[in-house]
Amino acid sequence: MFHVGDHEVAVCNLGGEFYAIDDLCTHDGGSLDQGELDEAEIECPRHGARFDVRTGAAVQLPAFEPVETHEVRVEGDTVQVGMEHR
Ligand code: FES
Repeated sequence: MFHVGDHEVAVCNLGGEFYAIDDLCTHDGGSLDQGELDEAEIECPRHGARFDVRTGAAVQLPAFEPVETHEVRVEGDTVQVGMEHR
């Protein structure tokens, strides 16, 4: 998890591809960076909602709203996160 501006962003490494999502479960505000990453899905440690980190889509209840995603760019050994909401 990284602070980017006033956001907390979870950056996920899927086999060398990086994805960034708000570190805030849309069910009840759980910290997604504390959850398990299973393939492309991250599981909220609070009540088990799952999100696809590539799209932000909620794929398992109790969350049904998507989590915000952010653009990621890798420059050398630096991972840059764009904060324009998609
Ligand atoms: S806060 Fe994430 S599933 Fe409830």
